[in-house]
Amino acid sequence: VVAAVAAMKAGAKDDLPKGDLTEGALRRAVGNAMEMGMLESRLAAQRRALKAVNHDQSRKNRELRSFYHVVSHELKTPLTVIREFTAILLDGLSGPVTRDQCERLGLVRDNCDRMTTMIDDLLDFSRLEDGKLAIHPEPLDVGGLALGVVQGLEPVAEARRLALSGAVAPRVPVVRADPARIRQVLHNLVANALKFTPAGGRVHVTVVPGPGPAVAVTVEDTGVGIPPEALERVFERFYQVAGDPAEHPGGLGLGLTLCRGLVALHGGTLQVTSTPGRGSAFRFSLAIAGPQPREPRPCPRS
Ligand SMILES: Nc1ncnc2c1ncn2[C@@H]1O[C@H](COP(=O)(O)OP(=O)(O)OP(=O)(O)O)[C@@H](O)[C@H]1O
Ligand SMILES: [Mg+2]
Repeated sequence: VVAAVAAMKAGAKDDLPKGDLTEGALRRAVGNAMEMGMLESRLAAQRRALKAVNHDQSRKNRELRSFYHVVSHELKTPLTVIREFTAILLDGLSGPVTRDQCERLGLVRDNCDRMTTMIDDLLDFSRLEDGKLAIHPEPLDVGGLALGVVQGLEPVAEARRLALSGAVAPRVPVVRADPARIRQVLHNLVANALKFTPAGGRVHVTVVPGPGPAVAVTVEDTGVGIPPEALERVFERFYQVAGDPAEHPGGLGLGLTLCRGLVALHGGTLQVTSTPGRGSAFRFSLAIAGPQPREPRPCPRS
């Protein structure tokens, strides 16, 4: 009886025919309600199990992130020491070095720098995932910053026989952004463009006002391009478009994840358009900083 009452409360009455209530109909309604009750409690148990699995998975993810955060930190210290001593040897401070030794020490230094960049990317990535990556926005001349990045990467472009250029439109307003982080974004985008453009190609950076109260930054190349199905995936962590392994330029596949995350922290979006075999263009915009310095106006004639 108790079960029947519970079953009726659970909804058996909905199935009861109006008018005559036969014993058979009541039995069926009670049976249905009991089955429904059982299904509901099974569903609730499955929901609880799923929640526990999710909880366990996020705990494991957190542990993994904190593990590679610690490992990355630990790797940085010996790497810095190797870099420092290599620089001392290269500068001849421990005695004269031959041209051959210089070349090899240069290789050690460059590889230390590559590893430092990868470790810094991993550290930034784990901070980003944990929502702990903070930006420090200030009024910024993003045009000047972009030209600085272009200038800094000119030796790389030259070594790869690529034409690298930058153009800033007149009267680009000052934006509000974190200079170090926007430099990192631009450096990543231009480095990618140089990496994925075969010799003889072009990489061009433009900074123009708009749309709206913003400034748009574009990094265009005439490189290998990205297939349509990979256009969104390139922003996923560790994702790299499959290519000839012998020609693959390496890297962790974190650069664009960081770029998109950093632009998002500034309130913008990083977007890409590409034509396979012809090139790609990565674009983002930054909001302009409060009141802008005024253009000198002509004196009104009386
Ligand atoms: N300008 C580009 N042209 C063609 N493909 C690109 C371009 N930029 C990125 N990609 C593709 O997107 C993938 C992800 O880029 P991302 O910068 O995240 O990683 P990565 O450059 O491979 O490694 P990392 O930046 O960590 O050194 C690249 O491996 C490449 O396949
Ligand atoms: Mg990259």
